[in-house]
Amino acid sequence: MTVNRRFLLTARPKGVPKPADFAFVSEPLPDLAEGEILVRNAYASIDPAIRGWMDDAPSYMPPIPLGAPVRATTIGRVAASRHPDFAVGDPVMGVNGLEDYSVATAGGFTSKIDLSAVPEPTNFLSVYGAVGLTGYFGLLEVGQPKPGETVLVSGAAGAVGSVVGQIARIKGCRAVGIAGGAAKCQRLIDEFGFDAAIDYRGKDLAAMTAAIAEACPGGVDVFFDNVGGLILDATLPNINHRARLALCGMISQYNATGPVPGPTNLWFLIARVARMEGLLVSEYIDRWSEGAAEMARWIAEGKLVFREQIEEGLENALPVFLKLFEGTNDGKLILKISDL
Ligand SMILES: NC(=O)c1ccc[n+]([C@@H]2O[C@H](COP(=O)([O-])OP(=O)(O)OC[C@H]3O[C@@H](n4cnc5c(N)ncnc54)[C@H](OP(=O)(O)O)[C@@H]3O)[C@@H](O)[C@H]2O)c1
Repeated sequence: MTVNRRFLLTARPKGVPKPADFAFVSEPLPDLAEGEILVRNAYASIDPAIRGWMDDAPSYMPPIPLGAPVRATTIGRVAASRHPDFAVGDPVMGVNGLEDYSVATAGGFTSKIDLSAVPEPTNFLSVYGAVGLTGYFGLLEVGQPKPGETVLVSGAAGAVGSVVGQIARIKGCRAVGIAGGAAKCQRLIDEFGFDAAIDYRGKDLAAMTAAIAEACPGGVDVFFDNVGGLILDATLPNINHRARLALCGMISQYNATGPVPGPTNLWFLIARVARMEGLLVSEYIDRWSEGAAEMARWIAEGKLVFREQIEEGLENALPVFLKLFEGTNDGKLILKISDL
């Protein structure tokens, strides 16, 4: 009998998620209702946002219910169908769960994908998916970079950040990246073409503010922030008149166990007549194909490179997820569940 191995959320994590917050179970395959499809998950996108969905807190998505599989975007194939538009074997992508098989509903988030449109199927979870397009639309629409400007990126060696720095360079900007550790900072320059890199590790607010000033002697025109907290605070005194701050993520705070201190330097938004704006890639969903086409052009021209780190095995879901918070992921983190 085919079983469905499932990685369930059983408790709301306090701080860094731990094994006791989850259960790894094997269950029989579910029966489908009319209009539903059964997806055999092959690859799951392991995203920092999943940590937020584990909390019972207001967000742009409802919390993952306790006892339900940990939510993740997956690609896979239709294993059974009671929906007229989906046939067994169709490749699909959708918001599913960390489990072998997910039930997707008609009118839900699952859609068919054309595997011939990308070099590797996992590219749908990285550069041609929400991650790459977050960098694309976040920088171009919220950041509004102009040639000659300085674009500062936090989380710069990661999946979103590495794309942002490269697009900034393509648009004629000076790109400065912030990352953890000397090796990642070197990679920013050697692999992703950033003009300068700042290692944030071990720096307090004063040291980080000074490091940004040194790396951005003409000030910061666009700040693309994946991290929040001290790095955002240290950037504010360095922003230029009419700077744009695109808030993409706050990974430094996702495992906080209490209220986090607010930025102490918000005054600089007033003093520099600057704009700080949150962004969600889902706001641009109608234009995703436009963004993906332009990214494909840049990749073909050798102007854009990206990394995927594919880890194996549903049973490794937790240690793989925690890599995002340890900084031990190396590009877009993906979990392989089965062959596609
Ligand atoms: N708004 C949206 O629509 C949207 C969509 C996708 C992603 N995001 C956000 O974008 C950000 C990056 O996501 P990603 O998928 O590209 O992940 P990623 O950058 O590939 O991986 C996470 C990286 O965050 C860094 N990090 C972890 N804890 C940190 C801390 N306390 N302080 C500073 N840096 C820390 C680590 O790099 P270091 O080794 O350099 O510390 C780690 O490698 C996340 O905040 C995510 O929530 C937002």
